[in-house]
Amino acid sequence: MGESDKKGNAAPPASGLSKGLTSYGDAGFSLFLRKAFIKGAGYTDDALSRPVIGIAATGSGFNPCHGNAPQLLEAVRRGVMLSGGLPVEFPTISIHESFAHPTSMFLRNLMSMDTEEMIRAQPMDAVVLVGGCDKTVPAQLMGAASANVPAVQLVTGSMLTGSHDGTRVGACTDCRRYWGRYRAEEIDADEIGRVNDQLVASVGTCSVMGTASTMACVAEALGMALPGSASPPAVTADRIRVAERSGATAVALAKAKLAPDRIITAKSVENALRVLLAIGGSTNGIVHLTAIAGRLGIPVDLARLDELGRETPVLVDLKPSGQWYMEDFHHAGGVPALLRELKPLLHLDAMTVTGRTLGEEIEASGAGFPQEVIRPLAKPIFAQGGIAVLRGNLAPGGAIIKQSAADARLMRHEGRAVVFENAADLAERLDRDDLDVTADDILVLKNIGPKGAPGMPEAGYLPIPRKLARAGVKDMVRISDGRMSGTAAGTIVLHVTPEAALGGPLAYVRTGDRIRLDVANRSLLLLVDDAELRRRREARPVTPPTAERGYLKLFLDTVTQADQGVDFDFLRLPRK
Ligand code: FES
Repeated sequence: MGESDKKGNAAPPASGLSKGLTSYGDAGFSLFLRKAFIKGAGYTDDALSRPVIGIAATGSGFNPCHGNAPQLLEAVRRGVMLSGGLPVEFPTISIHESFAHPTSMFLRNLMSMDTEEMIRAQPMDAVVLVGGCDKTVPAQLMGAASANVPAVQLVTGSMLTGSHDGTRVGACTDCRRYWGRYRAEEIDADEIGRVNDQLVASVGTCSVMGTASTMACVAEALGMALPGSASPPAVTADRIRVAERSGATAVALAKAKLAPDRIITAKSVENALRVLLAIGGSTNGIVHLTAIAGRLGIPVDLARLDELGRETPVLVDLKPSGQWYMEDFHHAGGVPALLRELKPLLHLDAMTVTGRTLGEEIEASGAGFPQEVIRPLAKPIFAQGGIAVLRGNLAPGGAIIKQSAADARLMRHEGRAVVFENAADLAERLDRDDLDVTADDILVLKNIGPKGAPGMPEAGYLPIPRKLARAGVKDMVRISDGRMSGTAAGTIVLHVTPEAALGGPLAYVRTGDRIRLDVANRSLLLLVDDAELRRRREARPVTPPTAERGYLKLFLDTVTQADQGVDFDFLRLPRK
């Protein structure tokens, strides 16, 4: 607190309950009052003298991905108390993918601000961040990075897989696969109803390498979560033990004053990017990691990401790029087993929440055992990283494609654009029998970027037009300024920057234009000359969307593009 005693000696920084006193003009009275209130809940002076460990609780009836929160919180409390700390829970916003309108991404920054301000406002020496569903972990890490109070991330863990007529299924790659079959009229309403019962077999996060699993692995690789903590499924004893250990770790972090700015560094961010690429992780992970790093002024450069992608193979054989599920990844050794393989590519001196370096943790994780889910570096599933960065006149600020989940035949493809102006236009026309479209065409969807939708929804996974789906077409090149669920697969170009709603070149594409995609050469070209594009722009200039009031106004006025993490501009720190 920067206070000094009567002799002018600087007082030690406040900790525990003395931290961040409410302003009544008399510090002694403020602490007296705070203690009086908390004693109303039955605490003793002994309890109140301990390091205070906040637990950011995000359980919600609208968030089944966090359905194990009560057990996790109990275990975290136990871990804190066994280590001599005082656990204090506090709520923040909780966001579930399927229960947030218009899209969960619209609310991620709000959750990050809630998390940051509650960590800063309340007296805690360290915090355990309990989250799991896609946007919650990035929001918590963004908030914790900005608050810069010692923090450990605890993910809720993945759901179990179910079984449909003897076939193993899990959310949500199989959700999309079966829905695609239903749209193509390969299965009937009765069967799709029975599949619906099986896709989410327990509480927890999606069971494939979607965004939640990706962010769990990213948090661990970043050093912000305990080694081995990303993969235990939500309902297992391993998950509960991780929770207890996370509580104990928070006490140690509080004593060591090991804050996020010493853990989230340029090196640890690069380690996390390597892991993201090697797991065939979600494209959303790039946006989230960019936002987390941006809170500490660490740039995530798309050119560097592409370099890393060219030299980091995909080693983890999980859906949607591969065949297995998160519980298999856990049984195969999880992130520590992957890090062991990636060791020659990693910055081993990066610090972690354990107080040890990543290299020390890899050494401590042992030699591993034979398994089929995590491949050795010399025998990858895909020689390059899962994500490639594209450039060209259609995306001057870049675009990305998840090449590990795309159709190899379409990685070099030229076709006629079939354009949809926005999500409503897509919904209105996509399934009409008179839609002029063939399997060789390229579907283009505009206005689903950060400002356009708003919130950059996961609508970049355009369905195959019904008449083509019925004819057996499984994949087509699709391009948008939106995002795609990490559980989805296909030859899908995303995050086109600048977005259409800001007047990026995407805004001026017309049906009938030719587009050329060449993933090997990292290019995305609109084959229309500059003079014609200029004429189109002058004839119909784009006016970016605005709002009169509320969070929507804050969002539209300050949200950045995909290459800046879709964070609010005033929350990012200047580049280091
Ligand atoms: Fe929560 Fe997939 S919906 S992790």
